[in-house]
Amino acid sequence: MLTANSRALRALYPDALKRILNVASGDESRAWLSHWDAISAQPTPLVELPGAAARLGVASVSVKDESFRSPLGSFKALGAPIALMRLILRLWPDHAIDPQALIQGRHRNLLTHFTVISATDGNHGKALAAAAQSIGCACVIVLHANVSVEREEAIAAYGARIVRIAGNYDESVEHAAQLARDNGWHVVSDTSYEGYETIPRDVMQGYGAIAAEIIEQAGEFAYTHVFLQGGVGGLAAGIASYLWEIHGEKRPRFIVVEPGQADCLYQSALAGRAAKASGSVDSVMAGLACGETSPLAWQILEACVDHFMLIEDDDAVTAMRTLAAGEDDDLPLVSGESGAAGLAGLAVLMNDAELARAAGLNAQSRVLLISTEGATAPGVYAELVGESAQAVAKRRDERLAALAQ
Ligand SMILES: Cc1ncc(COP(=O)(O)O)c(C=O)c1O
Repeated sequence: MLTANSRALRALYPDALKRILNVASGDESRAWLSHWDAISAQPTPLVELPGAAARLGVASVSVKDESFRSPLGSFKALGAPIALMRLILRLWPDHAIDPQALIQGRHRNLLTHFTVISATDGNHGKALAAAAQSIGCACVIVLHANVSVEREEAIAAYGARIVRIAGNYDESVEHAAQLARDNGWHVVSDTSYEGYETIPRDVMQGYGAIAAEIIEQAGEFAYTHVFLQGGVGGLAAGIASYLWEIHGEKRPRFIVVEPGQADCLYQSALAGRAAKASGSVDSVMAGLACGETSPLAWQILEACVDHFMLIEDDDAVTAMRTLAAGEDDDLPLVSGESGAAGLAGLAVLMNDAELARAAGLNAQSRVLLISTEGATAPGVYAELVGESAQAVAKRRDERLAALAQ
């Protein structure tokens, strides 16, 4: 399913939106994160997939591979640490805290009684736990019933205390808020709600680093279409706002892809305001299984996303396998359930002439996809792809070595 957003503007990036997200603050966040040892010192690879482009009938397909961002395995490593750092700077304005020293744990004596908490479906919680560990404060993570034990263990490995509830994601958000009120803890959430916008804004701003790297890596090359997967909308807002501010009215078309069961952004587009999902919110794409749009992200998305679309779980699994296989001589890529959603969306559109036409996709289109995660749940990955992430990575390395000869 695909819907066009008649409110999408083709104009300069508005000043009103600059007050939420802007390039200057994105670049500052990127500079701060360059001092964190959990982030790769190199930009993540921007990989060309000529085989996929020829097969699908577009001019080019490029994939920004965020599995290389961090040992945490996803782009989420860019969000929570920035929000946590900015929170601490706001709470202790008189301590002349140096961001570099902060992320390297050199202010930990100040933070012995400071606790942060968040609900998560996996990747955000892992990033917050890792950031809290590096900075030197306590972290509590609330998990809902559908988060796998594998993801729970990955978060606990970074020293977070885990609270498991029987309910769904939205209930875990409420539970975290209650625990914070009862204990004087600070919620560091990646989604906004009424009266709670500063921290999710900072999380989204951290994601701008992906767009900054893409601009440096692409040089003069201009993309016509960018596919962005949607959970609560933060990733899409962080990247789209940055590209929009840089490219102005020449910005690429943005297409947001969500699981059909977790269609909160699609429903928002239909309703003309931040809305809830209409489905069960249970998807193999765990990072995208979100029931409620972040209203702050929606302010950006409603102004620039040209199309919202829905995919099935099977579409994502097929895309994971396609990327892992390195079909048609492409480089094999490890892309997790949510990571492969962009390619899945492109394939759904290109396999239906009417949908492709509606999205303005044709043989001249230069498409950018963001593979937002690697195998963040390695067991789930191996089961779905039929091969372990290590085996896929090994084939990738062998291929690169052969190309280098
Ligand atoms: C791998 C992955 N991709 C995409 C998303 C979507 O991000 P957002 O919820 O900010 O829209 C998430 C969210 O957790 C994720 O983990």
